[in-house]
Amino acid sequence: MEELMTDKLHDETRQGEAFSTEKNPNQRFDKHFYIESYGCAMNFADSEVVASILQKENIGSTSNLEKADIILINTCSIREKAEERIRKRLTEFRQLKKQNPSLIIGILGCMAERLKADLLEEEKLVDIVVGPDAYRSLPQLLEDAETGQKGVNVLLSRDETYGDISPIRLNSNGINAFVSITRGCNNMCSFCVVPFTRGRERSRSAISIVAECEALFNDGYREVTLLGQNVDSYNWNDEEKNETITFAKLLEKVALISPLLRVRFSTSHPKDITDEVLFTIKKYENVCNYIHLPVQSGSTRLLELMNRTYSREWYISKVNRIKELIPDCGLSTDLISGFCSETEEDHQDSLSLMEYCKYDLAYMYFYSERPGTLAARKLEDDISLETKKRRLQELVALHRIHSLESMQKEVGKTFKVLIEGNSKKNEDEFYGRNDQNKVVVFPKMNFKKGEYAMVKIHECTAGTLIGKAID
Ligand code: SAM
Ligand code: SF4
Ligand code: F3S
Repeated sequence: MEELMTDKLHDETRQGEAFSTEKNPNQRFDKHFYIESYGCAMNFADSEVVASILQKENIGSTSNLEKADIILINTCSIREKAEERIRKRLTEFRQLKKQNPSLIIGILGCMAERLKADLLEEEKLVDIVVGPDAYRSLPQLLEDAETGQKGVNVLLSRDETYGDISPIRLNSNGINAFVSITRGCNNMCSFCVVPFTRGRERSRSAISIVAECEALFNDGYREVTLLGQNVDSYNWNDEEKNETITFAKLLEKVALISPLLRVRFSTSHPKDITDEVLFTIKKYENVCNYIHLPVQSGSTRLLELMNRTYSREWYISKVNRIKELIPDCGLSTDLISGFCSETEEDHQDSLSLMEYCKYDLAYMYFYSERPGTLAARKLEDDISLETKKRRLQELVALHRIHSLESMQKEVGKTFKVLIEGNSKKNEDEFYGRNDQNKVVVFPKMNFKKGEYAMVKIHECTAGTLIGKAID
């Protein structure tokens, strides 16, 4: 099968990856926890907050299941399949618990929030259930669990941002890091469970965000990705300076840390991305020319049902503006096939919109009804699974053509590449990314990980640009 380009934010191969910080083998911990994260990058970032909270209690992370006293699964509820996958994973821990009855198993994240105490009922081996805003209570819940007392904390907060916690980087390559800038979401897209699992949107203090990015840079990191469900609605009031920090201002502050620090961000909402943000991207060379702009559907009628609050025309005008101000900007999207009442004509609208935008990258899903959402309550999930899947295949097939074209057009060009590590296929080659988030591999020569190289591209696959560094 043809290779398709992925990025770190959505890389399915990272799903469930066990995390460890076992950097300093001399450090002695009282206990060890093993953590797996599923879903979006925010969950991966949250697992790093959890690691920090637990390390303060002298509980260190391990990637060795056998060594773990505590197993944590940071879960996702976005589609039914995501939850099924986690339930299946839980059954695999049964044997471990049998062998070691004192083993504590905890469910964290969005599925914990959605199902609450029911999870304890449904999954007998689970000891604790902790929602995304309740990680500070983990030490207490773990202590109680040790005495046999099962516990649940799924309280959502209006102001928790974990801004004062320095996340402990888990399984990091030492080059790229995720930094959360907002939590929750105030939009009510009718298909989406996130507002229910993550609560109201809140912006983290710009001072703590910049401090975290500075610390990362001083530790040798060379790329930060600012994370939020809707980064454009970032809004924080610096009371001391009586200044409101918008997302554009925050981007600028992070960009100014050093020209050697690359800045990425995700996700942008088409209704909220401003010219000010686009001008900031244009102004700073180290703010990457890459925007993830989920459209969800190409049909204005469906966009209305989805409560996305923009039309096809509005979306196209945003894309035009991006291309006008930042002509080489990489563009990616999310699309859903088979949403409630989607007709063949609506589906054709999605295909024609893809044809117009020619996305470099697209994440495509068939609609999965989520209990409690607006769509589940008000709309009928009336498209057959067969049709949803067939339409999804058509979206994927078209995207394959566009992604290959998007790679082919780069052959012959030269890009500044941030070196992230060894190429998976060849030890003699480095792997990195260009500004537009495209993967580049090239022979190592005298370069080092974390440095930038100017690489001339001489060939490509659907997922990788292949080139040679020019001195
Ligand atoms: N906040 C982002 C936005 O506004 O697009 C992304 C949210 S969600 C974590 C990532 C993607 O999952 C969405 O963009 C959407 O395409 C997809 N998604 C969300 N709910 C879904 C559902 N019920 N069925 C299928 N796909 C869904
Ligand atoms: Fe979900 Fe919409 Fe919020 Fe994205 S903006 S997290 S799709 S409700
Ligand atoms: Fe999943 Fe929650 Fe993220 S539902 S996509 S882990 S915000």
